Amino acid sequence: MTDLAASPTTSIEFASRDEISALQTERLRWSLQHAYDNLPFYRQSFDAAGVHPQDLRDLADLAKFPFTTKADLRDNYPFGMFAVPMEQVSRIHASSGTTGRPTVVGYTENDLNNWADLVARSLRAGGVRPSDKVHVAYGYGLFTGGLGAHYGAERLGCTVIPMSGGMTERQIQLIEDFEPDAIMVTPSYMLTIVDAMERKGIDPSKTSLRVGVFGAEPWTEQMRTELEQQLNMDAVDIYGLSEVMGPGVAQECVETKDGLHIWEDHFYPEIIDPVTSEVLPDGEEGELVFTSLTKEALPIIRYRTRDLTRLLPGTARSMRRMQKITGRSDDMIILRGVNLFPTQIEELILGVPELSPQFQCVLDRPSRLDRLTVRVEARADAPVAARAAASEALRALIKNRIGVSVGVDVLDPDGIERSVGKARRLIDNRPK
Ligand code: DLL
Repeated sequence: MTDLAASPTTSIEFASRDEISALQTERLRWSLQHAYDNLPFYRQSFDAAGVHPQDLRDLADLAKFPFTTKADLRDNYPFGMFAVPMEQVSRIHASSGTTGRPTVVGYTENDLNNWADLVARSLRAGGVRPSDKVHVAYGYGLFTGGLGAHYGAERLGCTVIPMSGGMTERQIQLIEDFEPDAIMVTPSYMLTIVDAMERKGIDPSKTSLRVGVFGAEPWTEQMRTELEQQLNMDAVDIYGLSEVMGPGVAQECVETKDGLHIWEDHFYPEIIDPVTSEVLPDGEEGELVFTSLTKEALPIIRYRTRDLTRLLPGTARSMRRMQKITGRSDDMIILRGVNLFPTQIEELILGVPELSPQFQCVLDRPSRLDRLTVRVEARADAPVAARAAASEALRALIKNRIGVSVGVDVLDPDGIERSVGKARRLIDNRPK
């Protein structure tokens, strides 16, 4: 596993809280003023709320400023949120936009430079070293995952293998032949690759991979154990979102694996109550909100991520951590008054030895009541005769731990559509 000796880090990662706050305050003033001066959207929204960038005296004053939502970005499609002339925009990315218009984001040369630095910082914190070969299996293209990972790994001084997502057989061949030290991929696609290796008679624990930098979707501690055991590697979490930058907004340190350090010198986090929008103290769970501190092309003020987590004090680094994301408020299932997330189901599935982490939650409404069915694959080595008991065990776990009755269908191995990027854990078949 990873040798942490000789790990160079930037001094800001170990700065005191006072130093971090002072830097944040100075940068936040700049960011608010930049947004106000250069974007009609922010000028109007600040004016409507009766606040001005100069009203910010300390960090807590940020709570007076209005939020930005995904709908605001969509309403300003395509380039209405760019705060610099197009000649200064070096690159554009966009989110997939399964519903409606995609969200478009832009970067100046400085933005790209900061982004590469932050992904390099993330990789180093995650246990990747400059001489390592890094296999990037996040999708390249408009998605920020591939190119974001790519330039960060190059910046750290690694040898990058720009594989992109999909073509699973080819992924396996390159892992075998090029012997990468690290892989950057969604955890669900990593599972797909592991399954395919096993089908080919390749032992996933015998590859050259030493570190997996997994993100772009929620995954649990139980999934970490699964991936670390199957692949004999360190599995660390990387977080980010296109509206705020892309991968590398926050990263887990390999030495502690205790949640993700937010790179607070570039992003100011808040946790709010998703219903009342009130700012909550550190330690309380709510919706994560980000304000960019240095971004030029697309300054973003109090962006509501819809991701649910809580803020914790720093450990391996002085910047605050966020707990692993529980889920997005959009993926919250409300079943007969009980709120639950696919990640809670994942945790429980991995507690039943016969069940694999390939699963989907299907919601439908056969009569007047909603029904949730968990479709989950049996492990390849589990006897068929054990499936009924495994199904009953999971049903009972969900009933006891979460408090709802659900159906459980245990399927053959390979019964669930494989992800090559972000897994679709929730299928909502209820009539609209
Ligand atoms: O997924 C950026 C990224 C690429 C992050 C590669 C990490 C690795 P978007 O497509 O804009 O950007 O999706 C952002 O994905 O709001 C979360 O809901 C989810 N997400 C991203 N990372 C994590 C993570 C990229 N580590 C949305 N844990 C975010 C849980 C994550 N959810």
